[in-house]
Amino acid sequence: MRRVIAGNWKMHHGPSDTRAFFARFHPEVDSERVSLIVFPPALSLSAAREALGADSSVELGVQDIHWEPAGAYTGEISAEMTVDAGAAYALVGHSERRHVFGETDAETALKVAAAGRAGLTPVLCVGETLAERTQGRLEAVLLRQLDAVLAPQEGSATAPSHDGRASLLLAYEPVWAIGTGRTATPEDAAQAHQLIRDRLASVVGGERAEKIPILYGGSVKPDNAGDLLAASDVDGLLVGGASLDPDSFARIAATAG
Ligand code: PGA
Repeated sequence: MRRVIAGNWKMHHGPSDTRAFFARFHPEVDSERVSLIVFPPALSLSAAREALGADSSVELGVQDIHWEPAGAYTGEISAEMTVDAGAAYALVGHSERRHVFGETDAETALKVAAAGRAGLTPVLCVGETLAERTQGRLEAVLLRQLDAVLAPQEGSATAPSHDGRASLLLAYEPVWAIGTGRTATPEDAAQAHQLIRDRLASVVGGERAEKIPILYGGSVKPDNAGDLLAASDVDGLLVGGASLDPDSFARIAATAG
């Protein structure tokens, strides 16, 4: 499976900063082996698309979508609109959406389905808080978040699709590791990724589950990326803070080959 290195810029880099980023972003990776995805703010998608040009292998995504294709939803953006603006992926259920904005499992499921309908590959983010982990609830939380999405759309979200792209990506992002400088150990990541892979296999079958990339996210930096990528069942990385600087993100990309 191709490794995936993704950068989630969160609420950073408007259109001018986005142009400046791509003017300096020169990753040395073999695009046959590594897929690079950047998630700028939706407002910067067009600038990113233009700055990359037609030949770039770097793909683009958005950080959130609404589940309706259009309507009276002030401030929201539909999956269809993001495709029109050049997005191929959408983060869904990022922990900041869940914990800062109160997004529920049910809303996350609607967004994953909406992405699939629009031809956008959803990157479903799951992860436990520190309290949940210390209470021994890692498995229960991950399975609840996965089942909320996988159960209602067995078959569709996980069908092979979209111009050769996987139709679903997973990201394991322990909430306690996001933006804290505290990274999960490669063993922590491997354990959670195995749980996720097993659940995917029970829903879509082992063969298809093996083809769904599972990314690790949470305080990934150039100096820990290699060890995390070497952990079993870690197919890629979702990088927040360290993706904002083109050199640091290119160094992380280089660790993937
Ligand atoms: P971080 O964020 O790398 O800054 O911890 C990761 C994420 O939230 O996707």
